[in-house]
Amino acid sequence: MARKKIALIGSGQIGGTLALLAGIKELGDIVMFDIAEGTAKGKALDIAQASAVEGFDAKLSGTGTYEAIEGADVCIVTAGVPRKPGMSRDDLLGINLKVMEQVGAGIKKYAPNAFVVCITNPLDAMVWALQKFSGLPADKVVGMAGVLDSSRFALFLAEATGVSIEDIHAWTLGGHGDDMVPMVRHSTVGGVPLNQVVKSGWLNQDKLDAIVERTRKGGGEIVALLGNGSAFYAPAASAIAMAESYLKDKKRVLPAAAYLTGQYGVKDMYVGVPVLIGSTGVEKIIEFDLDKSEQDMFAKSVASVKGLVDACKTIAPDLA
Ligand code: APR
Repeated sequence: MARKKIALIGSGQIGGTLALLAGIKELGDIVMFDIAEGTAKGKALDIAQASAVEGFDAKLSGTGTYEAIEGADVCIVTAGVPRKPGMSRDDLLGINLKVMEQVGAGIKKYAPNAFVVCITNPLDAMVWALQKFSGLPADKVVGMAGVLDSSRFALFLAEATGVSIEDIHAWTLGGHGDDMVPMVRHSTVGGVPLNQVVKSGWLNQDKLDAIVERTRKGGGEIVALLGNGSAFYAPAASAIAMAESYLKDKKRVLPAAAYLTGQYGVKDMYVGVPVLIGSTGVEKIIEFDLDKSEQDMFAKSVASVKGLVDACKTIAPDLA
C-alpha cells in the first residue's frame, strides 16, 4: 500500500512541529507548503535529516506552489498571521480570511478528497470560511481547538489530583476563546465525574474553579510567557491526533470545531462539539445532554462565534 500524503499548509512554528510528529509517527509522506518557500524547504530538509536518527521512513519536501499538494489525503492548515499589538480583531480577521481564500482555492484544485484540519485563528470563523472557500464537504473539514483546550484541562486536573494523565477524560465544548465551555459534569478523574470528585473532597471547589479559569485562558498564559508567539507543541499534537484518527480509521471521539446542521440548536456554523472521526471524516456528532447552566455558557460561546462569522460575511459578502 502506498504511503499516505500529508500536506501542511503553513510551515511556521506549528507547521514544523506537525511535520516532526507526523514523521516520527510514520503517518505518511509530508509536503510542507509556505509562502516563505525557503522556510518550508529548510524545515523539510532539517526534519528529513532527523529521520536517520529517529529511524522513520517518510519523504519530506518543502514547496511554495500548490501543485505539490496534489492528491493529499490530509491537509493541516496553519497559514496566516498572528495578531500583533495594535491590530484589531477585524484587521486580523480580514488578513487571515484572505489567506483562507488562497488556501481554500489550492485545496479545492489539488486535494479535493482530503480531510482538512484548520488551526488558523480565529479558529471557528476561519474553519467556516475555509470550508466555504474550498467547497469540500463539511464533514471533511474540521477545526482544531477542543483537543487542545481539553488537553490543557486534563493536565491541570492530573496535576491537582495526582492521577495519571491517562486516566483523566476532560472535555471542553463551544468556541475557541475565553468563553469556551469546560464540561465539568462530563469530565472524569479515574472514571469519577468531576462534581463527585469535589463532593468526595478529592479536589475542592475553589481549586476546580481556578482550573476551569486557567483552562479558558490557557492560550493567553503561554503567549504571555513566550513573549513572541503562541503555543505550538500542544496544538500540533492535537491536530495530529485528529489526522491519525482519520488516516487509521480509529473512530476516536474528539472535541473539534464541526459544522452543525441543527445539533445543539446551531445551524450553519462551526462550533466545538464531540465528533467521531473515521476514514470518511466526521462520521458522527455526539450530543451531550446539557443542563441549564451549560446551555447558557454554550449559547454565550456560540454568540461570540456568530459575531466572528458575521464579521467575515461583512468583509467577504460572497460567503454570506
Ligand atoms: N499562504 C501560505 N502560508 C502563509 C500565508 C499564505 N497566504 N500567509 C502566511 N503564511 C505562513 C507564514 O509564512 C508562516 O510561516 O504561515 C506561517 C504561520 O506560522 P507562524 O507565524 O509561526 O504561526 P504558528 O505559531 O505556526 O500558528 C499558526 O495557528 O494557532 C494558530 O493563532 C495561530 O493563526 C495562527 C496559526
